[in-house]
Amino acid sequence: MKKVLIVYWSGSGNTETMAKQIAKGAEDGGAEVTFKVVGEASRELVEAADALAFGSPAMGDEVLEESEMEPFIAKLSKKEIGGKALGLFGSYDWGDGQWMRDWVDRMKKLDADVVGEGIIAQLEPDKTVCDKCYELGKQLAK
Ligand SMILES: Cc1cc2nc3c(=O)[nH]c(=O)nc-3n(C[C@H](O)[C@H](O)[C@H](O)COP(=O)(O)O)c2cc1C
Repeated sequence: MKKVLIVYWSGSGNTETMAKQIAKGAEDGGAEVTFKVVGEASRELVEAADALAFGSPAMGDEVLEESEMEPFIAKLSKKEIGGKALGLFGSYDWGDGQWMRDWVDRMKKLDADVVGEGIIAQLEPDKTVCDKCYELGKQLAK
């Protein structure tokens, strides 16, 4: 059984809705799912997982949430995420998704096997985005 770890930060719930859909897809796909807000996550949990999904809204000026998500991501190395399937996701508002493009590039540099281009939702995720998140979860469970 695949161990899928989902770690996210969400201030107003939009990224959290996406995270829950990914968890549902991964559970339906038969994975053992660990679901954590970033404040409860650790490098050890990342290392123990077979596949990963990380979520953060665009914050600051097209960056990850700075108080918890950015420090968490900054601590990761090839040791924990290299070679692992990694789905990135998050909500934004007025930008054009630059934070997600930067995040995808950054994780690829650590040899993560990033799935697609990251899933982004303008504010609240609609059904199309929720379906994509669910499918990502199923894919991570394989
Ligand atoms: C302090 C702050 C900074 C933000 N910076 C950006 C930004 O740079 N680009 C953007 O597209 N949206 C930005 N947003 C909008 C959020 O990404 C958007 O409201 C998102 O839906 C929040 O997701 P959440 O509900 O998971 O917290 C910002 C919002 C806040 C509160």
